[in-house]
Amino acid sequence: MSGEVYPVPAAVKKKALIDDATYKTWYQQSVDDPEGFWSKHGQRIDWFKPYTKVKNTSFTGKVAIKWFEDGVTNVSYNCIDRHLEKRGDQVAIIWEGDNPYDDKKITYRELHDEVCRLANAMKARGVKKGDRVTLYLPMIPEAAYAMLACARIGAVHSIVFGGFSPDALADRIVGCESSFVITADEGLRGGKKVPLKHNVDLAVEVAEREGVEVDTVMVVRRTAGKIEWFSDRDVWYHEAVSEQKPECKPARMKAEDPLFILYTSGSTGKPKGVLHTTGGYLVYASMTHQYVFDCQDGDIYWCTADVGWVTGHSYIVYGPLCNGATTLMFEGVPSYPDASRFWDVVDKHKVTIFYTAPTAIRALMGAGVSFVNRTSRKTLRLLGSVGEPINPEAWEWYYNVVGEKKCPIVDTWWQTETGGIMITPLPGATKLKPGSATRPFFGIQPQLVDNEGQVHSETVAEGNLCIVDSWPGQMRTVYGDHERFIQTYFSTYKGKYFTGDGCKRDADGYYWITGRVDDVINVSGHRMGTAEVESALVSHDSVSEAAVVGYPHEVKGQGIYCYVTLMGGYDGDDGLRKALVQHVRQEIGPIASPDKIQFAPGLPKTRSGKIMRRILRKIAEDDFGSLGDTSTLADPSVVDDLIENRQNKT
Ligand code: WT7
Repeated sequence: MSGEVYPVPAAVKKKALIDDATYKTWYQQSVDDPEGFWSKHGQRIDWFKPYTKVKNTSFTGKVAIKWFEDGVTNVSYNCIDRHLEKRGDQVAIIWEGDNPYDDKKITYRELHDEVCRLANAMKARGVKKGDRVTLYLPMIPEAAYAMLACARIGAVHSIVFGGFSPDALADRIVGCESSFVITADEGLRGGKKVPLKHNVDLAVEVAEREGVEVDTVMVVRRTAGKIEWFSDRDVWYHEAVSEQKPECKPARMKAEDPLFILYTSGSTGKPKGVLHTTGGYLVYASMTHQYVFDCQDGDIYWCTADVGWVTGHSYIVYGPLCNGATTLMFEGVPSYPDASRFWDVVDKHKVTIFYTAPTAIRALMGAGVSFVNRTSRKTLRLLGSVGEPINPEAWEWYYNVVGEKKCPIVDTWWQTETGGIMITPLPGATKLKPGSATRPFFGIQPQLVDNEGQVHSETVAEGNLCIVDSWPGQMRTVYGDHERFIQTYFSTYKGKYFTGDGCKRDADGYYWITGRVDDVINVSGHRMGTAEVESALVSHDSVSEAAVVGYPHEVKGQGIYCYVTLMGGYDGDDGLRKALVQHVRQEIGPIASPDKIQFAPGLPKTRSGKIMRRILRKIAEDDFGSLGDTSTLADPSVVDDLIENRQNKT
């Protein structure tokens, strides 16, 4: 936590929207008088009917969170229509294809027409306010059109990342009983095709067996590759929209009407459907986007995430478009055609603000500086990081090599559940320390709590990160399971939102996220529950028991380490290892590919049968010298075999 401090450069401070004095004043107001603060900032979006109530939230009992509850608005209207007069001809979306010669610019007026046509096409096929629509799409403009078209008519989208398998997609379709799916024939990433429509065909079959009928699959033609066609169910996107008018009145939505569901992994059980609503979410996403990225007229803003993750929701689509910004959407990967791609795109489209993940930075760092140095990057003025703790080496490389010491880095800590950025520097206000997410955003009150629930209120402290009061972007419930919402987030520490992260606070009051303290791992910025990987493994014929932990991985942040106990009669050889990797990919998707599989005749369990993961984590880290007390194990001798056969010997 020591190391260099980077002051705010004078030139940055002069042009920035928020300086340090303003940060301090606003922050104080936001915690002293949340009602007054948010009453003012809630007006940053347009309301058809203004709210008179601002905040009505409780973190105890049944946990009820309502913001701006009597206001009426529409997210699509705020992201499009209200900009038309001033920005109709301004580019809203710059699309950069997987192939460097493939790109496209969409103005706000064009965006309006595309979204309206699609909204009408959906209505014509029976989609109504409150219906759940599943999107399983590549990073193409149609993904943004589809999100905004849902918002326009009050349908609730549930985006499933294209890297998830048919089974995982089916789970999510069934989970929110969605009968309308929008996909593409194939996706294209790094020159490779992804069989999206084929995966949907398989998922729909599974969903039907589980009692959820998908009656429409709308298909964007992306590659024109060969696909199967079911004419009573499938419809081409381009045909459906071509018959529609480019006007569609935005639905009147109450502030607390649902906007989207996004499935995310927890420490137990199946992924949960995180539900975000309309008014508070949009206020918070747009406000953080404006101030954290200091986004101003003329900026070209690029967030490299996928819309399948919350980062893509809040900081590719809703935040930037609500602010009338120009947002870049990238279909490809950082390494294709080569490791200069990000910087080539920056130069090609004159990107000024660039937001990516530590795993990408580390991978590009590994490729060498020549891929950076042969590009100009002279338009860049701000860099951002999200998804996992950024190690100081990667931070320094990003700062020195990519930004050439001219661009502040905003290391933004937040979660799918929080809707928007929570702890972050503001570029014109905050001195930077590599590896620290620094200070809370307006309205956010972090607390560090120990395992016994004791709050550590001294400045220098360490503990489990909790947030003590509500903010407008917060999730409202787990879709269809409010009890799980209460249990997961508000029961560990009564009356507080528990994030699942560990954290330190230094003498300057800066926060340093140390990573998850629960059984969630973060692999290349993708969040995964170890329980999900375990249940995929035990569903294979050969496996009787499995325990999965994360271990430090140079590029991915964390790798997936699996301990597997086999059924009698199976040989733990490389052939079976491959088969198990394949099996997990099929059950969850390529993003869950195990990195290491260790066959273990026994797992370390307490006498009550609980697996002691602490021991498994240590062995996976090759740090078996400090296993701690193993005397409470039912059979302490299993530990010797585990150490002997560890897969990360150095
Ligand atoms: C978890 C949330 C937020 C959008 C992307 C991930 C980790 C996220 C940071 C950061 C340290 C971070 C946390 C958090 N995380 N950003 N800047 N520094 N850790 O969203 O999939 O919901 O994952 O990602 O562990 O709890 P998510």
